[in-house]
Amino acid sequence: MAFRSLVILTGAGISAESGVPTFRASDGLWCGHRVEAVATPEGYAADPALVQDFYNQRRRQLAEVQPNAAHRALANLAARWKGDFLLVTQNVDDLHDRAHRDTPPASGFELIHMHGDLLKARCTRSGVVSDWSGDMAADQASPHHPQGVMRPHIVWFGEMPLAMERIERALWDCDLFVAIGTSGAVYPAAGFVQTANAAGARTVEINLEPTAGRHLFDEGVYGPATQAVPAFFGALKT
Ligand code: OAD
Repeated sequence: MAFRSLVILTGAGISAESGVPTFRASDGLWCGHRVEAVATPEGYAADPALVQDFYNQRRRQLAEVQPNAAHRALANLAARWKGDFLLVTQNVDDLHDRAHRDTPPASGFELIHMHGDLLKARCTRSGVVSDWSGDMAADQASPHHPQGVMRPHIVWFGEMPLAMERIERALWDCDLFVAIGTSGAVYPAAGFVQTANAAGARTVEINLEPTAGRHLFDEGVYGPATQAVPAFFGALKT
């Protein structure tokens, strides 16, 4: 069967082999920090310098990593896919963006960073989002509002993920949904498979190992993303 409308959800596992650490390491810390300290509005209010420093480090690390074979396989797929293709990533790195810059996609393609983007900053007063590639100070003045400061354009726990209406629409419209390298531990992304199932789509998870939500998918493909993703999409009729 040839599919017409594709939604792919990616998580930290797709960037792991590029050298970007995943979130749910066994020590329960995210790069040595408690998640509440660096990924909540309360953590930011309590210690903006610590939070900015944390994201400054993550942003600097982007210069040391490259898209891997899994990112490139999705970029190649986007270049040849004839229908609609929504790529939703929970990752705040820019590895998908770079892969698609190297291999421009066909017209039906769109990429959404639903948990934000390390290379963007947001004014706390006006909400204006702008590109940001350098470090951010604890009290980084906003060019958009006299009383505003710039914060990372990252969705923290307790905040609303981005572009949810657009994503929901695509899920109801898709006939193939593939979740790659995500533990399925964080909602609403963890619930996308259920919407896709309700829409009648074929659902597939690609991961190092079966996740706790394996039973929600029609098919599971297991192995490192750099091998499993090119193999799966290489065999897919488009
Ligand atoms: P997790 O760290 O929870 O899960 C990573 C998943 O990738 C696990 O299921 C691993 O088995 C899998 N994995 C690891 N290495 C892999 C490889 N080489 N190939 C294939 N799979 C591999 O990361 P996410 O599910 O992305 O949210 O986490 C979701 C959200 O939780 C994040 O976006 C972040 C975090 O808190 C926010 O910051 C809002």
